Amino acid sequence: MHHAGNTHKMHSELIPQWPVAAKWLHLALLLSVTFQMITGLSGWIGSFFPFTWHILVGLCLMLVLGLQWGWLLMTSIGRSTLRYLFPWSPRGLRLVIMDVKGLTQGLLTPSGPRPGLPGFMHGIFLFSVTIVALTGFTLLGAFRGWWSGVPFGTLLTALRYGTLVVAAQWLGHVGMVLLHALIGDPLWEMFRLKRAKSQ
Ligand code: HEM
Ligand code: HEM
Repeated sequence: MHHAGNTHKMHSELIPQWPVAAKWLHLALLLSVTFQMITGLSGWIGSFFPFTWHILVGLCLMLVLGLQWGWLLMTSIGRSTLRYLFPWSPRGLRLVIMDVKGLTQGLLTPSGPRPGLPGFMHGIFLFSVTIVALTGFTLLGAFRGWWSGVPFGTLLTALRYGTLVVAAQWLGHVGMVLLHALIGDPLWEMFRLKRAKSQ
């Protein structure tokens, strides 16, 4: 496995590095989603479910998702990132296809904020996590009497199988991170939370 080289560098709207806000939001998502996934699976497949903690971290996750989507939709740098996450344009889709072709030839695309396959997968990941979290929140509201008429059994089944979809993507995401790390890509930048001088 080697590197495709940065073929997209010439496009002017590229964000040079991960914005600091994106890094903090990512860390918060990483911690809360991983916790929810492990406790949820342990409640379903195992027999240990730390209910109070799952609700508490779940409510924090709802807040983080609100901030994440707010940042993506309401700031200009967030909206540029949003175009990487959901590349619904002829050019965006073309870049995704180019990356897929590269992968079939053993070429990994560069890391960092750029349009293409990784961004698209990140978008699907964030979208899935949002749907699963909303399902959990809807169940909680039904328990607490905030609303009624919720199809409880269906939602619980959706939450459980949705968690498998999230877990599969979690493994894929971490797997790709390790692969990039193996060929020396500077992707640990994602966890450097201090503002860079040029930002
Ligand atoms: C990505 C995020 C989440 C994942 C992966 C997840 C996963 C799960 C799973 C697998 C279960 C079933 C456990 C079992 O069968 O015993 C569950 C239950 C539950 N979750 Fe989550 N959850 C997430 C987010 C949330 C959020 C945001 C809330 C609310 C704030 C929430 C509230 C609940 C509640 C109330 C239950 C209990 C349902 C019951 O006991 O029947 N979850 N969660
Ligand atoms: C647990 C849930 C996780 C979610 C929902 C998630 C989601 C995302 C998203 C949406 C992005 C793109 C960032 C953006 O566009 O603002 C991203 C990038 C990244 N994530 Fe995660 N992530 C998770 C867990 C992890 C874990 C456990 C690791 C560490 C091994 C990790 C490492 C990275 C790295 C290194 C990048 C940057 C990739 C690049 O430079 O191309 N993530 N993640």
